[in-house]
Amino acid sequence: MIAVQHVTMQLEAAGQTVMILHDVTLDIPEKQMVAIVGPSGSGKSTLLGLIAGLDRPTSGTIWLNGVEITGLREQAMARLRLANVGYIFQSFHLIPTLTALENVSVPLELAGDSHAWQRATELLHAVGLGHRVSHYPVQLSGGEQQRVAVARAFACRPPILLADEPTGNLDSTTGQQVIELIMALHRDVGTTLVLVTHDHNLAASMERVITLRDGRVESDQLAHLQHRVSYHQP
Ligand SMILES: Nc1ncnc2c1ncn2[C@@H]1O[C@H](COP(=O)(O)OP(=O)(O)O)[C@@H](O)[C@H]1O
Ligand SMILES: [Mg+2]
Repeated sequence: MIAVQHVTMQLEAAGQTVMILHDVTLDIPEKQMVAIVGPSGSGKSTLLGLIAGLDRPTSGTIWLNGVEITGLREQAMARLRLANVGYIFQSFHLIPTLTALENVSVPLELAGDSHAWQRATELLHAVGLGHRVSHYPVQLSGGEQQRVAVARAFACRPPILLADEPTGNLDSTTGQQVIELIMALHRDVGTTLVLVTHDHNLAASMERVITLRDGRVESDQLAHLQHRVSYHQP
């Protein structure tokens, strides 16, 4: 479903070359739930952005759903992203001049859905915001904004959902509600889920935990192996 092969990312900053990712290789099968953890600055957001095709690696290839995205032109990438990838940001990234309903409708309209408003309304009901459809982002709490963002990310029933610290700006109760919602939609839609988080409990509830450090994969463990490891530890 997602294949990252020997991906390296380097950027020029203040006349210096900064290596952000070094030879990252990962294979994420369909419907897997994966956490990406690691210290701040270890390259998590960069990796997620590359998987979404928002950026291009310096070298290496990335495949989504059997298509090599690293060679695609911008327009083809945008089409592929619309059909395949939902993205949830830490800071919600709703369009401030659009209502909740309009925000969720955007990807549906771009995808040519002739029932965009009806479907967006259903989605907002599904995330518990049926009473907030006409509200603008500024009129919503952080948790409500993130639920709108979750509805938007799932609107086109994407096979891949990428979430970059989706609970990072929320209190723990609200964060828990957002996670439960993401997990429920992941189960309903059968989405492959890649979630960046600092929350160890949340990471431990995923099927697999990939740890990045200094732009490299430091460890990559399936949940049942982790449990075995912790079981043997004093
Ligand atoms: N546009 C950029 N120019 C230069 N350095 C960058 C840029 N974006 C990110 N970085 C650097 O790359 C490293 C990884 O960043 P990031 O992927 O955001 O890490 P994380 O999400 O794990 O905190 C950091 O050291 C950051 O400062
Ligand atoms: Mg980040």
